[in-house]
Amino acid sequence: MAEKFYITTPIYYPSNKLTLGNCYTTVVCDAIARYNKLLGKDVFYLTGTDEHGQKIAGRAKDAGKSEMEYLNEIIADAKDLWKLLNINYDRFIRTTDEDHVEVAQHVFSELYNKGYIYKSSYKGKYCVPCESFWTESQLVDGKCPDCGRAVIDQEEEAYFFKLSQFGDKLLKLYQDNPEFLQPQSRVNEMVNNFIKPGLSDLCVSRTSVKWGIPVPFDPKHTIYVWIDALTNYLTGVGYLRDKKMFEKYWPADVHIIGKEIVRFHAIIWPAVLMALDIPLPKKVFGHGWLLFGGDKLSKSKEVASVECVDPRILAPRYSSDAVRYILLREIPFGSDGNYSTEGFLTRINSDLANNYGNLVSRTLSMLKKYRDGVVPSHSQELDVLDKDLINIVLQEEQNVKAHMANLDSSKALASIFAIFSKANKYIEVTEPYILAKDPAKKERLDTVLRNLLEAIRIGTVHLSAFLPDVSKKVLDVLGVEAKIGEQSFYNLKEGKVLETLPILFPRLDVAKELEELSKQ
Ligand code: MSP
Repeated sequence: MAEKFYITTPIYYPSNKLTLGNCYTTVVCDAIARYNKLLGKDVFYLTGTDEHGQKIAGRAKDAGKSEMEYLNEIIADAKDLWKLLNINYDRFIRTTDEDHVEVAQHVFSELYNKGYIYKSSYKGKYCVPCESFWTESQLVDGKCPDCGRAVIDQEEEAYFFKLSQFGDKLLKLYQDNPEFLQPQSRVNEMVNNFIKPGLSDLCVSRTSVKWGIPVPFDPKHTIYVWIDALTNYLTGVGYLRDKKMFEKYWPADVHIIGKEIVRFHAIIWPAVLMALDIPLPKKVFGHGWLLFGGDKLSKSKEVASVECVDPRILAPRYSSDAVRYILLREIPFGSDGNYSTEGFLTRINSDLANNYGNLVSRTLSMLKKYRDGVVPSHSQELDVLDKDLINIVLQEEQNVKAHMANLDSSKALASIFAIFSKANKYIEVTEPYILAKDPAKKERLDTVLRNLLEAIRIGTVHLSAFLPDVSKKVLDVLGVEAKIGEQSFYNLKEGKVLETLPILFPRLDVAKELEELSKQ
């Protein structure tokens, strides 16, 4: 039976249309999910939306709509966006889904029945947009430490989860499982900022928030959004409703999230699961931010005026693969990285048009011109240039696998493109266009063309997890299935006739594009 692989994105707040920042996590998870499929695993990829809370209710009211009317429009847009970016999720979960409401309520009742939840009253500083209560000492200059906005005093009857009992267990979890929370710097943050100073019990219900899931045994309370939200990871794979499915996919192999929500995933979530005796996810990965002019929010006016950050404009104009590429390549995984439209366009030219696109076009047209498109045989005697190419291709292929085992799509893509760069250099040093002029060099030309095709094949099979559209075109021409199997350099079917392809990525005039985008 195939090994399973369960991966999740955060569920996004539909308080606005989703941004390029949200696309970042979703595209990264999609590439990881697709890569694991290429490896033959049985993958489940979950994404969705976090639909409850005061902020959403407020947005719907401002728009003069019911909550559901408001949500349905944003969710339709989100699903269109995922289609546009070729996101191959297995389920799009909404926290308003019936099965999820049942799970959230069940979890709350279970925690209460087991004595982990008690009733008391809460008084604190509350950040309305973040829906977070903060203690005085956590505030930064009297403002919300997450978003920097003003907080208000709030007191209400509430249920509390005994988070304070879990400090030592969490420390032990991090110590015994260094894989659990990554990158390692996030562990230090959790330990120093939250666990060592002492965890407080967590307020897990609200009477002031009406748009939420009612506490089943005390319905004037609604379940705190983060308990509601985190449990989506259980609902998504059939908890309570499909035992077989749940047993197959749970625990999650990895929750991929932005670094600002590590606290919820690496402290609250494992504590809740420990209390419920449910196995913990194998890994939580807190990635860095995509920054726009140094800012996390792509929507700020200054950024919007100088940069085109709307994937709904970029993808139709430059291809969804190009947008996926910039997101997957430009940000070192785990760190922050800057997005700029100019950087995006420059990358399309250098990597997609000049490196990959050019390699594929040149090779296929030489094959057509010199061999009528027929895949040639290769000589048994390889020269030093051939061996060098083969070594690099096979070595980089191993590197791609290793980087993807570390979830690092940026380094994996760098290795894939190193294969293509090497193949381009191989053309320069072997000079097939000169070999073609000398009938005595027929066999040598065959070998060179064959080696180029094999390098393209190997690189493109891996590339298909990242840039599925263009890879499919190329693999279809080669007659190859996207599958990572045993290592072997010579794998193409000899004698097969290959068609040429139209230009894969047209070269862009960056200045002209920037000007046109600024008018959008
Ligand atoms: N609803 C919660 C998550 C609950 S998960 C159980 C939430 N939603 S959110 O809409 O604010 O989405 C935050 C997530 O979007 C980040 O954690 C990250 O995955 C992604 N990003 C949003 N903007 C981003 C950047 N500028 N850069 C990188 N990721 C970004 O928090």
